[in-house]
Amino acid sequence: MRILGIETSCDETGIAIYDEDKGIMAHRLFSQIAVHADYGGVVPELASRDHVRKTIPLIKEALNEAGLTPKDLDGVAYTAGPGLVGALLVGCSIGRSLAYGWDLPAVPVHHMEGHLLAPMLEENVPEFPFVALLVSGGHTMLVRVDGIGEYELLGESVDDAAGEAFDKTAKLLGLDYPGGPVLAKMAEDGTPGRFKFPRPMTDRPGLNFSFSGLKTAAATTIKKTDDSDQTKADIAYAFQEAVIDTLAIKCRRALEQCKLNRLVIAGGVSANVSLRNKLATVMKKLNGEVFYPRPEYCTDNGAMIAFAGMQRLKSGVHTDLTFKANPRWPLDSLDPV
Ligand code: KG4
Ligand code: ZN
Repeated sequence: MRILGIETSCDETGIAIYDEDKGIMAHRLFSQIAVHADYGGVVPELASRDHVRKTIPLIKEALNEAGLTPKDLDGVAYTAGPGLVGALLVGCSIGRSLAYGWDLPAVPVHHMEGHLLAPMLEENVPEFPFVALLVSGGHTMLVRVDGIGEYELLGESVDDAAGEAFDKTAKLLGLDYPGGPVLAKMAEDGTPGRFKFPRPMTDRPGLNFSFSGLKTAAATTIKKTDDSDQTKADIAYAFQEAVIDTLAIKCRRALEQCKLNRLVIAGGVSANVSLRNKLATVMKKLNGEVFYPRPEYCTDNGAMIAFAGMQRLKSGVHTDLTFKANPRWPLDSLDPV
C-alpha cells in the first residue's frame, strides 16, 4: 500500500509518499522561514496563504519524483491538528478534495503522532513500550507509548514549549527567526560555567515542565552584561545547558517511573546535537537505548504524516466527505490501532 502525506500545520509545507515495502518514495519540503523572518515569528495568515501556493505544486513534484500517478496511491493523509487553524485548513481541504477526486480514502493525522512515530522510518526501530520526549516549537511532552495510538501523557509544559523558549531567547540575543538552531550553533563557542540558569521544576516531584522563567533569566542576564559576541555565546551556552539538563532529568524520571529503558525523542528540538549527546549518556548509564529520527524528519515534514497516515489507513480509519481541522487535539484522545 502507498499513501500521500500532506503537512501544513505551521510554517513548513511538507509532502511525501510512503510505500509499505519501499519506505519513503518521495519527500518535498518548502520552509516559509523567509516569509516570516521580517516579523520575528510565524504570521498565521501569511502561513496559510503560502501553503495555498505551495501544496499542489509540491504534490505534483512528489508524484514525479516517485514516478507515480494518483492511480498508484491507496490513500491521502493530511495533518488535521494540532496547529494553526488556517494553515491546517489548507492541508485538510486540499487533502480531502484530492481524495474525493481520486476516489481514495482520506486520513486525518495528528501532528504529534506524526513526530512520535518518525523514528520508525529509520533502520533501528524502537519496540513498544517506550517513553517518548516530544519537543517542538508548540509542544513539550513526555508520553508513555504502549502501541500506536496507546499514549499516556506523563507530563507537559505548563507554559512555553522548549522550542518556543529557544526561539524567544534567540530573539533576545538578536538572532533571526527561528532562532533555535542558530542559538545552538552560537552555544558551541560558549564558556561553560560563566553563567548558570535554573533547572525549572526539577526540585519537586512530577513530570511537567516550565520554560518561561528560563527566558526571563536570560533576559535579566542580557540586560546586566555587555553585548559582545563572547557574552552572547556564553548566555546561549548556559540557556541551552539548562534546557537540556531539565529535559534529561525529566526523561530519566519518566523512565524510572514507567520502569522502561527505551527512550524516543522527536520534534524540532530533537535535532539539537547537544540534547542527543546528553540523552545518549543518560541512556548508557541506564543500560538503555535512545531512538530518534534523522534531522530532516525531526522538524516538520510530510514523511512522518504519510507514515502515521499509513498506520491509521491500515486500521481502517478514514473520513467521510466532511473535513475538520482540530487546532487543539489532545494526543491521548486518539484511538489505539
Ligand atoms: O517540530 P517543529 O519543526 O515544529 C513544530 O511542530 O513546532 O519544531 C520547530 C522548533 C522551533 O522552535 C526551532 O527553533 C526548534 O524546533 N529547533 C531547534 C533546533 N532545530 C529546530 N531547537 C534547538 N536546537 C536545534 N538544533
Ligand atoms: Zn511539529
